[in-house]
Amino acid sequence: MGRPAVPAPALWAFTPLLQALQDLVQIRDLARRDEVPSCACMSTSPASTTVRADFQGTLPSSLVIASLSRALDLAEGEPMGHAVRACWLGMKLGDWFGLGPEDRQDLFYALLLKDVGCSANAYSVTHWFGADDRSTKAQLKIADWSSQWRTVLFAIRQTAPTAPITRRMAQLVSLGSKGPGLASELVQARCTRGAELVRELGWAEPAAEAVLCLDEHWNGSGRPRGLKGEEIPLLSRIILLSQTAEIFWRLGGRRSVESVLRRRRGTWFDPQLVDAVLIHARGDKLWDRFGTITHPEQVTNLDPHPRGIPSSTLAEMLRIGQVFAGVVDAKSPWTSTHSTRTAVLSRRMAAVMGLDEEEADRIGLAALLHDLGKLAVSNAILDKAGPLEPAETMEMQAHTEISYQLLAPLWPLGDVAEMAASHHERLDGSGYHRHLRGPDLTFGAQIVAVADVFDALTSDRPYRRAMDNDQAIAELRKTAGRSLAAEPISALFEMVESARGMPDGFAALT
Ligand SMILES: [Fe+2]
Ligand SMILES: [Fe+2]
Repeated sequence: MGRPAVPAPALWAFTPLLQALQDLVQIRDLARRDEVPSCACMSTSPASTTVRADFQGTLPSSLVIASLSRALDLAEGEPMGHAVRACWLGMKLGDWFGLGPEDRQDLFYALLLKDVGCSANAYSVTHWFGADDRSTKAQLKIADWSSQWRTVLFAIRQTAPTAPITRRMAQLVSLGSKGPGLASELVQARCTRGAELVRELGWAEPAAEAVLCLDEHWNGSGRPRGLKGEEIPLLSRIILLSQTAEIFWRLGGRRSVESVLRRRRGTWFDPQLVDAVLIHARGDKLWDRFGTITHPEQVTNLDPHPRGIPSSTLAEMLRIGQVFAGVVDAKSPWTSTHSTRTAVLSRRMAAVMGLDEEEADRIGLAALLHDLGKLAVSNAILDKAGPLEPAETMEMQAHTEISYQLLAPLWPLGDVAEMAASHHERLDGSGYHRHLRGPDLTFGAQIVAVADVFDALTSDRPYRRAMDNDQAIAELRKTAGRSLAAEPISALFEMVESARGMPDGFAALT
């Protein structure tokens, strides 16, 4: 007599667990082999690039957003270039399915801005998982949350991974108390905020809707609304497939990406989209060309009608800068208005010091974007109440160099990048990251540096209470002419004094 057959329902119960283990084993195996693609995109360190305007004095919006999408990649724990490459593949799908120019434009910006709501859940991810939000979010994008087994496996792997076992257990219990609603909450926060920001940036409603629904799955197991099949906007279906394909291609090359597409065909992905990719991948060397996409310039001509952003007025750049400043500020509750307030202070200080409006605008833009590189810093560091370990200090201090690398390629905004990236430099050379000294620091950089410190001193931090304006000015004056420039500090003092008689005081100025 042979072994009794396992009843079919019991096999079904184990299938998700086996598939989850198969995913893990496959990714690990492939990562050890030569099949893992090797290209500039594999590096997590930002690559230096040079981006030029298409015509004199004007930046195309496609180029600006493609360049800034690299900041969102870092916030999601992906290497720079993830969104650009996903955009290239998504636009291919748009072509194969015959989308018209308007739909292609919506798709283009939705692909690049898919993660613009990234910081809306960064604090919660760190809080609930007790881990680096960036690595947890990168895993969240590839984990299959459609079964309890996979969810449990994911939670065990990702929760407080470096903490002692007792803390891990406590964190897991805390995570478990949130139940399956946590995943929906995290996705909802990111997608809803992302859609709002796409609207604020001025792109059409279908682009915002595409971002809102990008985590919906073909079989209805996605989030936040559990939409099914063609209820999900086509653009969202394209984005989900493109971003997942990019990640699996990077993890394990052609074999990995085609395997995940087949496995999730009809569950996560629209079967017709999967078939289109697999058919084109047969003869077109699709993945070879995919691997050559590393640079924003390689996708900027895929927007049928990019907006022209005149570099002389900076008005449009300030609007875009305001949105990205909001993305940075939303990452931590302790700095929820830091970039925008630093920008307002910097522009007013520039005006008090007699600089013209265009110069004040450039300084204001630099201040809006000065901490863009903080999107690459874990919230476990940004929100830490105690002193930072040396490795954590290094990660934190890297944010100025990353700000520079994100902004410098945007010709003709070179001096904006310089000002933004120098906000922690000091006259006496004690700052970072290039340890510049007085004569090497631009006037704008000195203004942003003073505004940055003033806003920090007058705001609560996890490790201290906020100072009032007078205490902050007194602290700044101790440094005047030594580490921080005296003139911007005097301008700030003048602003504080002039606000004393106003009904809302200094708050009215900022
Ligand atoms: Fe900073
Ligand atoms: Fe700052």
